[in-house]
Amino acid sequence: MKPIHIIITILILCPLSQAQQKDPAKGGIATSSTPTVSYDVKPRGTVEKPLILRTYCPDPGVEDAVLGNHGKAAPTPKYSPRSGKDSKGIVQPINGIPAAIAVNHADELSYIWDTTECRLLYAWKDGFLDMSPYWGSNQGGRKGSRKGFGYTPKLDGILTYMTKGYHPIHINGKPVGIPSYLGHNRKNNLPTFRWSANKAVISTAITPISESDGGSLRVEYRAEGDASISYHGSNDHGIEQKAPNHLIVTITPDPAVAKFSKKKEKEFKGVTLARGEHLFTTYSCATCHSIDGGKNHGPTIKDLFGSKRMFGDQEITADDSYLYESIANPNAKIAPGYQPNFMPKFPMSADEINSLILYIKTFSKIHD
Ligand code: HEC
Repeated sequence: MKPIHIIITILILCPLSQAQQKDPAKGGIATSSTPTVSYDVKPRGTVEKPLILRTYCPDPGVEDAVLGNHGKAAPTPKYSPRSGKDSKGIVQPINGIPAAIAVNHADELSYIWDTTECRLLYAWKDGFLDMSPYWGSNQGGRKGSRKGFGYTPKLDGILTYMTKGYHPIHINGKPVGIPSYLGHNRKNNLPTFRWSANKAVISTAITPISESDGGSLRVEYRAEGDASISYHGSNDHGIEQKAPNHLIVTITPDPAVAKFSKKKEKEFKGVTLARGEHLFTTYSCATCHSIDGGKNHGPTIKDLFGSKRMFGDQEITADDSYLYESIANPNAKIAPGYQPNFMPKFPMSADEINSLILYIKTFSKIHD
């Protein structure tokens, strides 16, 4: 190889070898010419040892009643640290919930515990937080460095629970007034949140229920001393009052809240099989509809397309328009042998519904 060729080869190889060196975790050395960012913007914990982050968190649409003690932030004048005075322009409040604690147990469960309201706000599965809006991206190089940053990370995964209404706990028969957060401690790696309200001190421990498909959790409340507590939440399952000062609430995934995590949908356009498959998972259709013929809360989708069913004395073929109506308006025709008002009505576009139909058809021998 002539010297000139060697120089060209080095130039071509250079960006590659630098890229390989970017990740110190892989044994590479950060070079001074490339500013490197080697952290993980989607950090994760494990089921046994969750990751606990104190952060701003995204608000997927929590009701105002839930956030009663947060107050409403207002636009404020811009402040110049250099002059020590207000400068031109205003700053809008940050869109997100401040001072929350985000906990991740790998894919099984993530949840947000709010330190202002001292309660569980929402839970999700199959992801955690994408911190890149706050931390910057981890691409390395000048492009990837932190720029145009906001405070609120993005929710990554599928929502399974969202609380409603006022604080679910009553203490000595009275609703929680203004709670204050005392801190959290870790026992066997799991956090327990301590807070006080109405002159009592309560601790809340949240644990994933690992026998489940993901997203199920147990919330255990204990009052210190002789205070009594009772549960008045509106949308939770399984309440066990163990003692006047001890109760356990079990929460299982609610498919109707999945729609609030729809952000991932942006990646899809038009009517496609991939989109249908993704929606079928996102909206947890499979919790009620088996794909293998098995009986569940709803009819199986195996051989559904093209099959015939009776509504009164009218025979209807499950064709495109029947499937469309069944998804868009679940109560329009109730499949024989099943309950009305059972299937949630999901707010979906026509493209989304048609994508689901494409997916459902793949489980039938007949396709058109
Ligand atoms: C909470 C349980 C539940 C969930 C979640 C659910 N469904 Fe259903 N679905 C039902 C029940 C029950 C029926 C039968 C009663 C009726 O027709 O509304 C049904 C009926 C249907 C039918 C008509 C089936 C037939 O044999 O006539 C289709 C199609 C359907 N669902 C699609 C979906 C899709 C797609 C999703 C996800 C976007 C979904 N369902 C989510 C419970 C559910």
